Amino acid sequence: MAGMYSLLTVLDAVDTQPWAVALRARSYELLGDLTGRTVVDAGCGPGRAVAELAEHGARAIGVDLDPAMIAAARKRWPAGEFHVGDACELPLETESVSCYRADKVLHTLDDPARAVAEARRVLAPGGRAVLLGQDWDTFVIDSDEPEITRRLVHAKADSLPSPRVARRYRNLLLDAGFTDPVVEVRTGVFTDDTALGLLHRITDEESWLAEQAERARTNRIFVAVPMFLVAAQG
Ligand SMILES: C[S@@+](CC[C@H](N)C(=O)[O-])C[C@H]1O[C@@H](n2cnc3c(N)ncnc32)[C@H](O)[C@@H]1O
Repeated sequence: MAGMYSLLTVLDAVDTQPWAVALRARSYELLGDLTGRTVVDAGCGPGRAVAELAEHGARAIGVDLDPAMIAAARKRWPAGEFHVGDACELPLETESVSCYRADKVLHTLDDPARAVAEARRVLAPGGRAVLLGQDWDTFVIDSDEPEITRRLVHAKADSLPSPRVARRYRNLLLDAGFTDPVVEVRTGVFTDDTALGLLHRITDEESWLAEQAERARTNRIFVAVPMFLVAAQG
């Protein structure tokens, strides 16, 4: 999992961008009053949101399918509660949590509707869910090679199980029986080296990446990613 452009390294770099901090804060706000509430963060990765939710007074539980992510989360946040588990089959009792959150997770699933149905199962009546993440067809990248850029972005999208799930969050929640969805979009903007980590996860095409590296070196890199956030009532 180590490496300059591993998922963990890139997540760490993106997580500290001011817009990412604000986006997470907004996701917590949309869950309502968290004091004393049980919140599950499905696909929690290395666990930052679990730690932040605990700071807001919640009993936060992180679940991730990847044992290495859960190991990293436990190491970083020893006080946190983390379990290896599937977002489509959460290791939680029916109606046992007040809030549900899934951040940049549903695009990795073949059937995201299953995860949303599972969110509804574990939520107590009146509980709240928040889904957030990017639409993988919608990366805005300044490049001298716009056609190649479009091809590379679409190739990456096509390699993912559910690349356009973020534009379906609202419908998925409604279809699962959630009500009163609130939709927000915030744009992540990268104008420094952090963008390179993200771009290396999109493609390994060397000449295209070399142009982007040169842009970063000369302070001319520009990548913007709309982040979709939908909250609804269970
Ligand atoms: C892009 S990362 C996002 C991690 C974290 N939510 C964040 O915002 O930093 C996606 C995470 O979803 C996890 N994941 C993928 N499929 C999953 C599944 N079926 N159930 C639970 N977690 C899953 C991956 O292991 C990975 O940690």
